[in-house]
Amino acid sequence: MQTVEYIPVTVDKSHIITIGERLYTESIEFIRELVNNAYDADATEVKITVKKDSVEIEDNGTGMDKEGLIQYFNIGSQYKLYESKSPIYKRDRIGQFGIGKFASLAACRRFEVLTRKGGFAGRVVFDKEEWEKTPSEWTIPLEILPPEAREHDGTTVRLLGLQREFRLEDIEAKIIEGTPLKAPNFKVILNGHTIKPRSLSGHTIPVLEGTPFGPVTGEIIILPETAASTENREHGYRGKGETGNHHTWILWYGNLGKDNGKDKG
Ligand SMILES: Nc1ncnc2c1ncn2[C@@H]1O[C@H](COP(=O)(O)OP(=O)(O)OP(=O)(O)O)[C@@H](O)[C@H]1O
Ligand SMILES: [Mg+2]
Repeated sequence: MQTVEYIPVTVDKSHIITIGERLYTESIEFIRELVNNAYDADATEVKITVKKDSVEIEDNGTGMDKEGLIQYFNIGSQYKLYESKSPIYKRDRIGQFGIGKFASLAACRRFEVLTRKGGFAGRVVFDKEEWEKTPSEWTIPLEILPPEAREHDGTTVRLLGLQREFRLEDIEAKIIEGTPLKAPNFKVILNGHTIKPRSLSGHTIPVLEGTPFGPVTGEIIILPETAASTENREHGYRGKGETGNHHTWILWYGNLGKDNGKDKG
């Protein structure tokens, strides 16, 4: 006779850290993930302070209460898939997978989330070394603070003990390329100066194309080679986050270029 037994599926605690590092091999991706989380939380302003060994991202979004913090540390939560619009500005939320927090994990030794929502304020610290010390303990400390710990609702994430130094211009480029800077009521300030969205001036042809997957909208921008940055030329660029299916294709022309008229997008 056949018998069936059940065995548990388990995950080694240290795997949480290796997953993070493998998912986000380009450790600078944390900046895009954090800014986009602030956008999803209806922040109008995100202030980033980059120092040699730390990065701080402060937003004035809705913040989190205890439930929200538990949600933060849930891996693979599909919350934003079901709550795909933000409550205040009805933004199309960018987050989908519930794994963005791994990007912070991959970039530093320790990160702190300080948040306030109404009468609740709290701080959670995730320290890799502490995490590794206790193989069977799956909790992390939450400090409950008086609401005055922050002036207003919102969230501050601090990354400490960075794996490497991040150059300001690389951080800025990542933000320009990967966050919805053009969205209304949304501003990102990096070490005191407001980041301007990329604007390309050239002949613009709007695109609206029905496809089996729904309409694709966007624009084709035609501009001289000299006006297309190397980065544009390599990657094209798309307004991820502005709307799901909005794309920008860049066509550039020049005198001698072997690549003339090549399109990317
Ligand atoms: N700045 C923030 N303000 C308020 N809530 C936040 C903030 N950052 C994260 N959260 C909460 O923590 C959850 C986890 O964030 P995380 O970035 O890991 O996943 P996600 O944004 O849902 O999806 P994705 O993996 O695609 O980024 C979010 O769904 C949100 O509920
Ligand atoms: Mg996210």
